[in-house]
Amino acid sequence: MKVDVILGLQWGDEGKGKIVDFLAEKYDVIARFQGGPNAGHTLVFDGKKYVLHTVPSGIFRENQINLIGNGVVIDPITLTKEIDKLIAAEVAYKDRLLVARKAHLILPTHRFLDAVSEAAKGKEKIGSTLKGIGPTYMDKTGRNGLRVGDILLPNFKEKYEALKAKHLGIIGDDPKVDFDLAGEEARWFECLSILRELKHVDSEYYINNALKAGKKVLAEGAQGSMLDIDFGTYPYVTSSNTISSGVCNGLGIAPSRIGEVIGITKAYCTRVGGGPFPTELFDETGEFLRKEGAEFGATTGRPRRCGWIDIPQLKYTIMLNGVTKLVFTKIDVLNNLKEIAAATHYNYDGGSHAELPYDLCEVEITPKLKHFKGWESSLEGVMEYEALPPAAREFLAYLEKELETPIAMVSTGPERKKLIVRDASVLA
Ligand code: GDP
Ligand code: IMO
Ligand code: MG
Repeated sequence: MKVDVILGLQWGDEGKGKIVDFLAEKYDVIARFQGGPNAGHTLVFDGKKYVLHTVPSGIFRENQINLIGNGVVIDPITLTKEIDKLIAAEVAYKDRLLVARKAHLILPTHRFLDAVSEAAKGKEKIGSTLKGIGPTYMDKTGRNGLRVGDILLPNFKEKYEALKAKHLGIIGDDPKVDFDLAGEEARWFECLSILRELKHVDSEYYINNALKAGKKVLAEGAQGSMLDIDFGTYPYVTSSNTISSGVCNGLGIAPSRIGEVIGITKAYCTRVGGGPFPTELFDETGEFLRKEGAEFGATTGRPRRCGWIDIPQLKYTIMLNGVTKLVFTKIDVLNNLKEIAAATHYNYDGGSHAELPYDLCEVEITPKLKHFKGWESSLEGVMEYEALPPAAREFLAYLEKELETPIAMVSTGPERKKLIVRDASVLA
């Protein structure tokens, strides 16, 4: 068997959680492979909304195992809050949730370091979610990190104190940010009990044995491909490989084990935090998209920056990920626009380009836009691709041709059921 992948093709928040939740029933195991509580994946069903940060989006399905893979970084405090909400929703999470022993832990001082680092950057700040992601991955690659498996070791407290002392040494005596270290630390140790009670596995053996036994595995990406540490808009990125190659490191599977790569894109584009965004709209249309799309961060509540869909950017991330199927989300947000647009090329350095420049931060880019007639009608009740208004189909057909990748699904609302399945093989 192979591992299918769902990931974001833009700057995050493409609607990955909704699509994973929808498709989860078809799989036996749903696994997160990177990122941590910087993610906010929203699920809406039976009139209720849930936001997941560390727990995979298959957790509400009864017969699926959800695995937090070794590539994920875990904050016991956020995880406990998430689990408390699952308990309140009467989800039998204990039988369905596994955690990789090799996943790294976010310490309170990682969050402290994140805050100090952002404050020091001033105007150049990344716009981090301040969840401690960057410092934790730095300790992982710096070979200093603490892992889930370590919490059961007799010398865990000693290891913790050593890493904390290192962090405090970096932070120094005059940190310029407020951080209640004693309070956060007390809570962190309390919350370790939840993590201790979860089933720990060696995810590489678990996944490979599951595949051998004929089980179907779905890998759930966090963030978006343009936030990838290597190929995103560096340095305005996150600290993990968000693209499909991250699945291999983040779960312990070979590249030949990757099956379908389902890339999610909004019908427009958003970004939260700092960094380049070539098609960003600063006018009333940008404001319209933010309002109509309820574009406020699921993790931080910050308003998301909004703009048109960007073909050079999508071609780039489709290439990097080896996307085999596309899913368009939030097409309903465009319902009431007279005219919509897509960027077809980037104008910079006196020429028109289909490829992204080395550094989007250093180049003044003017997107070349192609305009489309809006459909100016509701998509309520539309469940077939052919039943979409002709103008919507024209827009999608153009994008599908340019992106050279088939559209498998189109999402028409936040609710689980508001989804047009055009390619039935995604359900097989
Ligand atoms: P994720 O991080 O990729 O899982 O996405 P988020 O949950 O952060 O943000 C997507 C937002 O759009 C959430 O509020 C979803 O409930 C919502 N959403 C998802 N699909 C659709 C859709 O097709 N239409 C509309 N209007 N909202 C959607
Ligand atoms: P999901 O999984 C959107 C952004 C932050 C910031 C940058 C670095 O919900 O799509 P970090 O906290 O990782 O140091 O922040 O990345 N970012 C996201 N933007 N969706 C996310 O996750 C994000 N996770 C991080 O806003 O610009
Ligand atoms: Mg999100």
